[in-house]
Amino acid sequence: MTPSVLFVCLGNICRSPLAEAAMKAEAARLGLDVEIESAGTGGWHVGDPPDPRAQATARRHGIDISGYRGRQVKAEDFRHFSHIVALDADNLANLKRLQPKDGTASLSLLLDHAGRPGQSVADPYYGDDAGFEVTWREVSAGAAGLAKALTA
Ligand code: 4NP
Repeated sequence: MTPSVLFVCLGNICRSPLAEAAMKAEAARLGLDVEIESAGTGGWHVGDPPDPRAQATARRHGIDISGYRGRQVKAEDFRHFSHIVALDADNLANLKRLQPKDGTASLSLLLDHAGRPGQSVADPYYGDDAGFEVTWREVSAGAAGLAKALTA
């Protein structure tokens, strides 16, 4: 069965779109067949493109995410995706609360897959461009570990 991964942060305009982009790049590099999306637990940015700083960060790493659009996590996601990967502990807690009884997705934290179990990717929204570069490094490490696990 083709694995499928949904990355989830709060707004779906900073961290989870970058995780989606990093994972798509890693999957392409490895020739891995995997469905990849992102979403937010909050609904403020539904239909919005990623934050301009997130777009610029992805572009610096050769990836165009200008076509991504924000969406909110829905009950069906817990039945559809094999893996739902939270960017931080608050969002993981919210996902556990939202998970329907018949949900089958395996829930984890992104940095669990980067040798940093239990750690959160900090929200760069109120910071500067350097913060977004830290986010990129962290989501890239998580995506690499997750992609490796999916190929094993
Ligand atoms: P994200 O960052 O969860 O990484 O997309 C945020 C972006 C916007 C908001 C919160 C977090 N907001 O409250 O609008």
